[in-house]
Amino acid sequence: MKLKLVAAGVLLAFGLGAQAAPLIIKYSHVVADVTPKGQAALKFKELAEKKLPGKVEIQVFPNSQLFGDGKEMEALLLGDVQILAPSLAKFGKYTKQIQIFDLPFLFDDIHAVDRFQASKEGQGLLNSMEKKGIKGFGFLHNGMKQLSANKPLGYPTDAKGLKFRIQASDVLEAQFKAVGGNPQKLAFAEVYQALQTGVVDGTENPWSNIYSKKFHEVQKYIMDSNHGVVDYMVIGNAKWWAGLPPDIQKGLSEAMLESIKFGNKVAFEEDQAFRQKVIDENKAKVLPMSKEQTAAWRAATQPVWKKFEAEIGKDLIDAALKANK
Ligand code: LMR
Repeated sequence: MKLKLVAAGVLLAFGLGAQAAPLIIKYSHVVADVTPKGQAALKFKELAEKKLPGKVEIQVFPNSQLFGDGKEMEALLLGDVQILAPSLAKFGKYTKQIQIFDLPFLFDDIHAVDRFQASKEGQGLLNSMEKKGIKGFGFLHNGMKQLSANKPLGYPTDAKGLKFRIQASDVLEAQFKAVGGNPQKLAFAEVYQALQTGVVDGTENPWSNIYSKKFHEVQKYIMDSNHGVVDYMVIGNAKWWAGLPPDIQKGLSEAMLESIKFGNKVAFEEDQAFRQKVIDENKAKVLPMSKEQTAAWRAATQPVWKKFEAEIGKDLIDAALKANK
């Protein structure tokens, strides 16, 4: 009898000891932790591990530590990473419609972007890559882009002949060509050095990226241009996601939606704070754009809309314009 009890005790202890190892989930991105995306990824880790204690371990890799631009999508489809949040400018290979977010001067501000994404048309874009194995969890904001260079870019003619670093986007290539610029598609991790060494003369990015990656240290002028947006889609490998146990999927979904909401709150609330930090460091000069200058840039880049209208769809562009109040 005693032996049976001891045996039962050992088995119980062994059973408890052999609890399954947590599911490792890798979340990779290219920006700094302080940015809206960096904050959202860390919040996802915090919430997912709280909701699924001992069942999941979220490993967050910021600053292109694990995969950089150009590698991350392939890695996701191969299952080497489970979650990414690439810029919407980097999905051109998977769906042409999402190029809408790169059209210059389409959205008045980040709130217009938010309204469009919440619309039927916007939500439809979230699932537009499922057939390619990419599951869209939600849209995550960063902010409106600012032009920068080592000379003021008040008018489009000021950009003539300059080399600009751009994300891997045909629309952005057309945007800079429309003003006589020379666009260069480069990975985000290479931007600082390319600006510092003069491989490129200028670029465009939102304030949180400018500040956290110190672009203002290697650019003399930043225009308050708000001429486009950097926004993201948080994505997962669709097959991996479909294969998850229901309780894990439920916990991760909740954590994902809450973390995206948190990241968007950071984007709305801290964009101007990042701008002020750049101004306070007084390394680059932040120059306002007059109504006339903005109108000149808008007119010069407007033909880009026509060029991509067929690929994107006129209905979608009209729906986006409606989101501007
Ligand atoms: C860029 O490449 O400039 C941005 O997409 C980086 C990012 O993820 O914000």
